[in-house]
Amino acid sequence: MRVMIIGSGGREHALAWKIAQSPRLEKLFCAPGNPGMAEYGETADIAVNAVERLTDFAREQDVDLVVIGPEQALEVGLTDSLIAAGIKVFGPTKAAARIETSKSFSKSFMQRHHIPTAKFAVFADNIEAHDHLEKIDYPVVIKVSGLAAGKGVLLPETKSEAHTAIDRLMVDRVFGNAAEQIIIEERLTGEEVSLMAFCDGTRATPMLPAQDHKRLLDHDSGPNTGGMGAYAPVSIMPPDEISEAVENILQPAVDGLREEGIPFTGVLYAGLMLTPEVPRVLEFNARFGDPETQVVLPLLETDLLDILQACVEGRLSETDIHWKNESAACVILASAGYPEKPEKGKIIRMPEKLEEGTQIFHAGTRYENDQFITAGGRVLAVTAQAADLPAALKKGYKLVNQVSFEGMQYRKDIGQREIQRPAKSAGNTSYRQSGVDIDAGNRSVRLMSDAVRSTYNRHVLAGIGSFGGLYDAGDLKGMQDPVLVASTDGVGSKVKLAAGLNRLETIGEDIVNHCINDILVQGARPLFFLDYYASSKLKPEAVAAVVSGIAKACRESRTVLLGGETAEMPGVYAPGEFDVAGTIVGVLEKRRLLPRPDLAEGDVLIGFRSSGPHTNGYSLIRRIIEKEDLHIFRPEMNSSLADALLVAHRSYLDLLIGLIEQEDSPIKALAHLTGGAFIENIPRVLPDNLGVQILKNNWPVPPLFKWIQKTGAVEETEMYRVFNMGIGMTAVVDPAEVSDVMRQIPEECWVIGTLVKNSEKKVVLV
Ligand code: AMP
Ligand code: GLY
Repeated sequence: MRVMIIGSGGREHALAWKIAQSPRLEKLFCAPGNPGMAEYGETADIAVNAVERLTDFAREQDVDLVVIGPEQALEVGLTDSLIAAGIKVFGPTKAAARIETSKSFSKSFMQRHHIPTAKFAVFADNIEAHDHLEKIDYPVVIKVSGLAAGKGVLLPETKSEAHTAIDRLMVDRVFGNAAEQIIIEERLTGEEVSLMAFCDGTRATPMLPAQDHKRLLDHDSGPNTGGMGAYAPVSIMPPDEISEAVENILQPAVDGLREEGIPFTGVLYAGLMLTPEVPRVLEFNARFGDPETQVVLPLLETDLLDILQACVEGRLSETDIHWKNESAACVILASAGYPEKPEKGKIIRMPEKLEEGTQIFHAGTRYENDQFITAGGRVLAVTAQAADLPAALKKGYKLVNQVSFEGMQYRKDIGQREIQRPAKSAGNTSYRQSGVDIDAGNRSVRLMSDAVRSTYNRHVLAGIGSFGGLYDAGDLKGMQDPVLVASTDGVGSKVKLAAGLNRLETIGEDIVNHCINDILVQGARPLFFLDYYASSKLKPEAVAAVVSGIAKACRESRTVLLGGETAEMPGVYAPGEFDVAGTIVGVLEKRRLLPRPDLAEGDVLIGFRSSGPHTNGYSLIRRIIEKEDLHIFRPEMNSSLADALLVAHRSYLDLLIGLIEQEDSPIKALAHLTGGAFIENIPRVLPDNLGVQILKNNWPVPPLFKWIQKTGAVEETEMYRVFNMGIGMTAVVDPAEVSDVMRQIPEECWVIGTLVKNSEKKVVLV
């Protein structure tokens, strides 16, 4: 087989070294290659982005398979050009490589396919980015969307540093056009692991996990670099965790790309953060990692050429891949001045003969007058394999000591993190032990039970763990005529949107506040709530997110979360989907029951602001947004569609309960504008002889609703039947009380209509 490798770094040298071990290799070409690679084949001095020249060269040399190293070659479409010329390529097309080359594509892709990653928003405008920063309350990282050689990520420590970072990227343009869009992302904590997989368009087969050392200096200090060393495998990612990551991350990514019509062939590299809950993707790369490749390939037992060929022929599932039961380490030797301004042209001294199980891969060298000379920032990758990591490191550093060039710098602590893991977590333990060492089921229960307990008050006699919740109703004795009000509801199809976006924080608040508002309109304040959560597969993280939202809303409304049920129903719900419902019980004095019987012609409707569509109209919304980018910031809404659509349903308890419970309350009736909105909800509180005129120009309709109406070409009456149009709750009061009521409401509210004589309870928009 005639093979050509594109690239000239340590990664490509390692590829050449490994491919050269295949008995099926006839001839190897490297473009442009390096002096180390020259040992295995012919080098051709063609730049990695010279698409036409590379294609011509491959055709002329009758190359059977091209293996692409660097992302720059993928980004300019080398794969596409070679395929068009009938040459097989290990490396994704330009479109599929966007999973690396465009972070905004990659982040939205992950959300579309439920791949766990950090929360984020994408901006093309610096003012909007600054505004967003003011609105969020978590630490962030700021990334340029385009390629920036691993340096386009800023980690501000404070909010003001974050503002400065935005200006550096978007105003000072320190990364040029790569920062045309920037991403503001939640900052995750945990250990980072690189998990690469061979992909054949359909299937992802993982390699051993590796850990890179990105910072220049020991103890992870100094500036970020392309990578100063690596080791593999990584004990905090044992085989069962690898399988889980394939199932939840790599395979869904390969499936997703195929579904989107851009199947992925090559190496998909997931940069993972092992957060205390689950591994989350920091970034995808569309190629082998550097220096991860230098430690992973030496541990590969299977013929690499067989695997690469199986990938390009879509036969990966037929290929068994075996790994050595050893460890490997790699130490990068870098030039003085790296990463900012590396010095070049220094003579390199190194041994001619290497000990078994060690290699020196060239990364930035040239050969001149019988000598190797430094020619880049990262010069050499010294690697070693042995039975375990300490032995590999010993061998590796021994070799490092035999190499020298002027100004040579390298890290002395490669692999130390792995070696120094507490004894009990060496070997076959899991990342969960880096904080929480209980399994998923227990973890859901614990997370949930903390959230549930946070809502308890002195009335709870029995809660979580008992068959039924017990609520001490002794206080009701102090009431004259207590009436209990109960209501059950569900979030509806908003859950599907939330599941699709993998954003579950607000769904819990939605269900609680929906229920609270439903009983508030009868004059009640809530006592306790019970929830029901059902999904195809219980994911502790998802359960915890939903239940914490429920508990948060309960606490805010001083409502006890007295019980609930979590159901796992594979086959009933589609994978990744879930449903949330709940029941609320509240109480009121019988004499305050709403609506009152004295509603009359001329009574005025006061409208109170909604926080968004609340929980209504999502079936329609989902149809309208099918083809929309949900993550791009929309100036007219001052947010992205994803953010605007997932705002939690607001509770009106605190706004209105004071007025409702006043002696001689001015509130005659309340209507919660939920499903059916103006057209169907207001008549529910009207007597048979009254209808209502809605003064639709009296309040500002929020931009989101205008956008929905326009984009979906929805008729006006339909809008007022499906959506709250900015008014989530309305109160009916006597005209004489209007100004007094409005004065008592601590936020802007509007007169939105009046009651009129009508025998059909008709609602008219005027
Ligand atoms: P990337 O190029 O996206 O891998 O980012 C480079 C480095 O920035 C990563 O290896 C992390 O150390 C750090 N980083 C990126 N995204 C995040 C995040 N969401 N939270 C914390 N650290 C991050
Ligand atoms: N080692 C990081 C990368 O290859 O991107």
